[in-house]
Amino acid sequence: MSIDVQTILSHGVAATDAALEQLLPAATVVPTSIHSAMRHSIFAGGKRLRPVLAMQAAAAVVGAVPAGVERMGAAIEMLHTYSLIHDDLPALDNDDLRRGKPTCHVAYGEAIAILAGDALQTQAWEVMAGLACPPAATVRIVHLVAQAVGTVDGMIGGQVLDIESEQKKPTAELVDAIHRAKTGALIRVSVVAGGVFASGDEAQIAALDVFGRKAGLAFQIVDDILDVTQDSAQLGKTAGKDLTSEKATWPAVFGLEQSQRDADRLIAEAFAALDIFGGRAEGLKAVARYLVERRS
Ligand code: IPE
Ligand code: IPE
Ligand code: MG
Ligand code: MG
Ligand code: MG
Repeated sequence: MSIDVQTILSHGVAATDAALEQLLPAATVVPTSIHSAMRHSIFAGGKRLRPVLAMQAAAAVVGAVPAGVERMGAAIEMLHTYSLIHDDLPALDNDDLRRGKPTCHVAYGEAIAILAGDALQTQAWEVMAGLACPPAATVRIVHLVAQAVGTVDGMIGGQVLDIESEQKKPTAELVDAIHRAKTGALIRVSVVAGGVFASGDEAQIAALDVFGRKAGLAFQIVDDILDVTQDSAQLGKTAGKDLTSEKATWPAVFGLEQSQRDADRLIAEAFAALDIFGGRAEGLKAVARYLVERRS
């Protein structure tokens, strides 16, 4: 059976958006400013790749996307969106365009944008506390996701390294550490958490971990490539920003061609880790292929 990635993606987006709609307070709930701001950023048209990866990882374990995993995906998407709101703030990357719309602080002011990021993070933990999987799996997922967004080899630690490396000549070791942490960790844990949600055995979880680690690094390499090769309209965010901010990026260290080769190689290696799932991993592989072939 051939797998159509567009179908996987559109089903994943619809399931994630429906869960988010249900899980987030309505924009009319007081205080309305923050709920409007949270919704402005979360419903701005993100690709929902982390939830889709979680769904397809769960499907690799049990053969179909299990009910309830979309709520876990929605929680991860809340964490991702919080990171984008804060990433765009003047104190960090200072961007005014995100997902094709004005950034949260441009639309709602810095104070509300900071609080909207905080609130999305808080809401994510509330949702994860009530996941429809065995209690031990829920605790393990909360632990793993908290580590992945944290300061030691996690998203926040990576953001610190990223900010502190601006205007310095980056090395291969530095950019590898930044990318694995700031972006790779959340992608990796999305895949692993999908497997844990579906009660995968330890060999399956370990295989998903290897896959997620490689796909996560490839994802950020491609983000860096697109920043150079695409325009702002295509990306929905300001193109060429990494060069003007003198960011430590993969192309800055290795050049564009080597960067694309590295992303392709990492995805091939990631595929190899999925052999133990046989045909059940076709969906996950299709999404991984999309990660490196996407144009936005
Ligand atoms: C962008 O992530 C930010 C990074 C971590 C590189 P995505 O490319 O997944 O952004 P959305 O969610 O589709 O907007
Ligand atoms: C952001 O990396 C990683 C996050 C944790 C938000 P970037 O700064 O490269 O993301 P974009 O390019 O602004 O989306
Ligand atoms: Mg950044
Ligand atoms: Mg940025
Ligand atoms: Mg970027």
